[in-house]
Amino acid sequence: MEVVIDRSETLAALAADAIEALVTRRSDAVLGLATGSTPSSVYDELVRRHAEEGLSFAGVRGFLLDEYVGLPEGHPEAYRTVIERELVSRLDLPTESVLGPDGRAEDLAAACTGYEQAIADAGGIDLQILGIGTDGHVAFNEPGSSLASRTRIKTLTEQTRRDNARFFDDEVDAVPQHVLTQGLGTIMAARHLVLLAMGRSKAEAVHQLVEGPISAMWPATILQMHPHVTVLVDDGAASRLQLAAYYRETWQSKPDWQPL
Ligand code: GLP
Repeated sequence: MEVVIDRSETLAALAADAIEALVTRRSDAVLGLATGSTPSSVYDELVRRHAEEGLSFAGVRGFLLDEYVGLPEGHPEAYRTVIERELVSRLDLPTESVLGPDGRAEDLAAACTGYEQAIADAGGIDLQILGIGTDGHVAFNEPGSSLASRTRIKTLTEQTRRDNARFFDDEVDAVPQHVLTQGLGTIMAARHLVLLAMGRSKAEAVHQLVEGPISAMWPATILQMHPHVTVLVDDGAASRLQLAAYYRETWQSKPDWQPL
C-alpha cells in the first residue's frame, strides 16, 4: 500500500496521471468509477486533459461502484445520473460504455449477478477509483460487510444516510435506505485501487484503512490485502496516521522510474 500525503490539487493530478497512463497504454481500458464528492476533482482534471490535451476515452469502458435502490430514472442524485453529469457527458466516452448496478430492477438479486457478469465479460477492472466513508465503508460496503462479498443489496447505516443527506436537501429520510453495491471481493479483483480521502472527518477511517487490524468493522481495511493500492490523502485525512512522517519521506524519495 502506497500512501501519498499532499495538497488536494496534487492528489487529483496524481490520480488523473494514473488514469492517463492507463488509457494511453490501453485505449480499451476498464475504469471503475466512484461517486461522492471526493473524486470530482479527479474527474474535472480528466475533463481538462480531454479538452486541452486531447486525452481520449473513446474506447474506454466504465463500471460504477454502487447505486441507490428505488430512485426514479434520471433522479439527479442517482449515481448513474451523477457520473453522466460529472464525467461521461464531458468526455468522448460513449454513455453506453458506462454501466452501473440497476437500482430500479424488478429482480434486484438478478441485477447484481448480471452486473458481476458484465464486469467479468469486460475482462475485469483495470483501475478502480475509490472514496471512503467516515465509518470506513468503500462503495456501500458498510461495517459488518463480508470481506469476500460480491455485488449485492445492502442497507445503509444511519451515519451514512446522515452523511449523504447533504445531497438530498439535508433530509435524511430522503436518502434511500437500500443500495446495490459492488462487494469487497469485487473491488479486490480490480488490478489497481486508487483511494482518495480529504478532510479531518475521514482521518479515523484512513488510519484504520492503512494501519488498523483487518476487520469487517472497518471494511476498507481489506485493502491491506491487495497488492497494488494507492492511498491519496490530504493533511486533514492524514492527521491520525501514526507513520505519517515515514509515508512522507517514502513519497519524497520515490524514484521517477517507479510509477504509482
Ligand atoms: C458514498 C459512496 C462512496 C463514497 C463515500 C464517501 O456513500 N457510496 O463510494 O466513497 O460515500 O463520499 P464523499 O467522497 O462524498 O465523502
